[in-house]
Order: sequence, then structure tokens, then C-alpha cells
Amino acid sequence: CVLGIDLGTSAVKVTAVTKAGNLIAQEQMDFPISQPKPGYAEQDPEDWVSATTVAIVRLILKDQILPEQIIGLSYSGQMHGLVLLDQNNRVLRPAMLWNDTRSTPQREEIMARMGKRFVEITHNQPLEGFTLPKLLWVKENQPEIFKQATTMLLPKDYLRFRMTGKLAIDYSDATGTVMLDVDRQQWSQEILDAFDIPASLCPPLVRSIDETGNIDQWYAEYSGLSTGTKTFAGGADNACGAVGAGIDGPTKVLSSIGTSGVILKYEPKKETNYNGVIQYEDYAIPNTYYSMGVTLAAGYSLNWFKKTFADNEDFTEVVQSAEKSTVGANGLLFAPYIVGERAPYADADIRGSFIGIDGIHRRYDFVRAVLEGIIFSFRDILDLYKEKGSRFDTVVSIGGGAKSPLWQQIQANIFNVKVISLQNEQGPGLGAAMLAAVGIGWYHDISECSKVFVQFKDVFLPEPENVKKYQKLHQIYRKIYPSTKEITH
Ligand code: XUL
Repeated sequence: CVLGIDLGTSAVKVTAVTKAGNLIAQEQMDFPISQPKPGYAEQDPEDWVSATTVAIVRLILKDQILPEQIIGLSYSGQMHGLVLLDQNNRVLRPAMLWNDTRSTPQREEIMARMGKRFVEITHNQPLEGFTLPKLLWVKENQPEIFKQATTMLLPKDYLRFRMTGKLAIDYSDATGTVMLDVDRQQWSQEILDAFDIPASLCPPLVRSIDETGNIDQWYAEYSGLSTGTKTFAGGADNACGAVGAGIDGPTKVLSSIGTSGVILKYEPKKETNYNGVIQYEDYAIPNTYYSMGVTLAAGYSLNWFKKTFADNEDFTEVVQSAEKSTVGANGLLFAPYIVGERAPYADADIRGSFIGIDGIHRRYDFVRAVLEGIIFSFRDILDLYKEKGSRFDTVVSIGGGAKSPLWQQIQANIFNVKVISLQNEQGPGLGAAMLAAVGIGWYHDISECSKVFVQFKDVFLPEPENVKKYQKLHQIYRKIYPSTKEITH
């Protein structure tokens, strides 16, 4: 079998999959996140190593997977986090995570110094979540630590380093640092020079399916794994999630609803540049790319609503109650900007709203408006793609949006595109396992592996009458942001 190690923000999940794509075992271990000040989000990188090891030990002892049977493994990682090592490869400070937002002054400084040129090189804006602003925060606020730093890694790359002793970063996570020159596919000397960052901090670049060494002696003894197991570089969690959902060409778009929501599209060309309005990253499929727009409060909006207005009720029933309402929630609109937004409006200060409240509205109308509002915000991102001339005929729905048939039908109608879900949704861990399966040569490429590992289930087709109704409502929805952006928190 192969293992997919999904290093998330609150837990690591290790999944064992056979050559036929069957999941034979899965173990999960949680680890803490520390938020010592508002906006700070940190983790001890050693917690990732010990949690992963516990999960692997359980796979071997409890699930009876023989270490020698594990031919290869690969990684999916929480993106953008900064790990700094000294010359003895020791961790210098807690990792600063993707959701750590302390680096606004550094974000502004980057734009002030490089402006449009920065977006030209990286195809992204320097958002607080990304790695470079965090690195500059350390440089300015903890100069003694910055001076000792000899290597910068992202979370899964640190984990891999501890298991193999080898330093590497794959292209998909490298784009998330916003220090990669996307057109040239190398670290950007221009950005490094502009901010006085030694090039030696940046680890060697590898492809997601590239071999990154065997499990070393130390880690074999620590975990029970065999030194015969090969590791493969792996990729960013959004990239691996897309691989695991069968996104292997431009005709399928991914719609993922977790706490935040993502619309993600495969991009064949590195030259495409959305000027940072949506993120642009290297994909885990070699020499391909993906773009994604993030709606910050997707599942979060629904959770907030339930907690505030239906605290003691069953979640599924609350969602189902939306069926009692109508298309367009009887004239009620919701804008999901309740913690600010990333795309298409990069505006951390805006806030959400319910518009058009009528005396006839009941709670189920509000639930429906929340489900629809989240999808209207996804539609804004799809419209950006259409404006750029993209053609796609299918949306693959994963996460919360795939758990409710009603929500999937709403997606089909608001997107006016066919929506499908997965047979056995396994998330980024499956994508990571697929990278290992291709890396060891079981399959020629990701597409071939995808045919075996990824099966689709339900299909939801757009209903022309309802498509029309939603098109009208979306026009009104689009006016909410410009008319309410003054309402900040
Ligand atoms: C993407 C992002 C998050 C993290 C979560 O840019 O910040 O989706 O990848 O791990």
C-alpha cells in the first residue's frame, strides 16, 4: 500500500490505500494551536512529528499494516506556514500558520516597495496569510532569530525533513510563499534582493511526485516504519484536495465548503495572471497550475447561524428546513462577509448582511438565504473565470456542500453548471496517496491514477426555471458589496 499523510491545521490524518485505490486503514491525531495574542496562530512543529508518528504506530499495531508493505508515502500540508531552522537544523521559533494575520504592516510594505511588479512575479497579492509577510515580520520584530535562520520550510516539508533528513519544498507550496517567480519557476531573486533575504534560506525545489529519499534510520526506529519506504514530495492541501477530487483538466472546477469555501480551477498555463484577485499556485500535477478564490466564511456562516438561532437543534435538520422555503428564500438575500472576505473582494474589514427581511419570513427562509448567499459568493468567482474566457462543464462538490442534496441542487442552479459529488470523499490525504502511487510507478500519471482512485456519485443538473430566478437575484446580490462596504466592524 501507499500512505497519504494529510497534515492539517488541527490534526494529521494518515490514510493507507492499495494499488486498486481501496482505503484499508486511516488514523487521525489532533494537535493544539496556540493563539497567544489576537491575530496570532502558532504551532510547535514537533507536535506535527509526534502526532504523525502516533498515527503511523496505530496503523502498524492496531490496523496491522506491515511496515514492509508500505512501499511509498507522500504528504498534503496546511499551506503558507513558516518554519525557521538554524544551522543545526533546529527549530528557532514556533511555526507561524496560514491563519496568523499579524503581518499587515509587512504586507503593506511589500506593496509599497514593489507594487504591481510583485503581483507580476508571483501572480498573487502578498496577503497576511502567506509566508513572505511572516518572514519579514520575524526579520523586523525578532532580528536575532532571523539572523540565526539558515533554512525556511513549510509545515509538511518540516515533517518530511524529520522523517528523511532531507530538505526540499515542492512547487505547489513554494508558490504559497509568494517568493517564487511563477513564469520562471524559480525562487525570485528580485524579491529576495528587495527584502534582503538570503537565497540560501530557500530549500531546493522539487515536483510533487518526485522522490525525496527513504525513511531514515532514526525515524524508522522511532515509528516502526521500514527504511525501505520511499517518500515523495507531496503538495499544498488545496492542491492535494483537488487531486483527490479528480480535478485533472480544465473542464472540471472544484467547489469545496469547509469553514472557509474554495472555488478551485485547474490551469494549464503558467502565464495566466488574475492580478492577485484570486490566488494562483503551482499544482501537484507537474507543469500545471491552479487558481482559487476563497470565501472566508462559508461553512462558518452556517455554523454561526445555527449557533446563534438554533443552538440545540440537529445540524442536518436545520439545513433541511431550508426546503420549506423557496428558490431565492422568499426574497431574502444573505451576503456571507461575516469575517471579511478574500475573493473576489480582498477586504478584511467588510461585514455580512441579510437584505430584504419581510414580516412573512421564518427561520427556514434565513437558513435558505445563508445556503444561497455562500453559493452567490462562489458564483462571483466563477464569473471571473468566465470573463477570462474559461470553459468548464462540471463542478465537483466536496465538503459540507456535498452532504446536502438541496445544497448541491442550489449550486447547480446558481452556477448553471452540472454539479457532481464523489463516491467516497477522502480529501487531501487521498490526493497525497495518489502522488505516492504515481511516484512509485504504479501509474504513469495522475490522470491514470485518478481513473482508479476517484469515483463520482450523484449528478445535479441545472433547472432552467430556477437558473433564471437565481440569475436575477445574483444581479441584486452583486450590489450588496459596493453598497455596504462602509459597514465595517
Ligand atoms: C489557502 C489557505 C488555506 C490553507 C489551509 O491559501 O490559506 O486554505 O491551505 O490549510
